[in-house]
Amino acid sequence: MSDSSESELERVSLTVPGELIEELDGVVEELEYPSRSKAARDALRLFLADERWRQGETTQQGSIVVVYNHDAPDVNDELLRLQHGAEEAVVATQHVHFDTHRCLETIVVDGASEKIRRLVDGVRTLDGVETVRFTPV
Ligand code: NI
Repeated sequence: MSDSSESELERVSLTVPGELIEELDGVVEELEYPSRSKAARDALRLFLADERWRQGETTQQGSIVVVYNHDAPDVNDELLRLQHGAEEAVVATQHVHFDTHRCLETIVVDGASEKIRRLVDGVRTLDGVETVRFTPV
């Protein structure tokens, strides 16, 4: 995602509401971005990564972050079963014990979008799972 890997930059003209540009400029200043263009390019990349995922790219990399209550019956077994079912796409899993009842699991994935989609959907519907967020890269 670094700009040094970008082959050729093209100048484009966009029509954007003033308040959006104001907010962008605020972020540019706060994060000390070298330019408004660099910030806009980063935002565009994230937008397009999300679109690729929704539009069914054949392969995808990213991380699935799951927060769940481990007291729910079978939730740990089901999480394991789902991940083994998508083993070709699962690169690594990190488990954090948040508090007495809640766990956070980060599943790094790299593989077929269909497998990842099935994994995300399967985890989402498990009893005890509070939130599931897939972040494609
Ligand atoms: Ni735990």
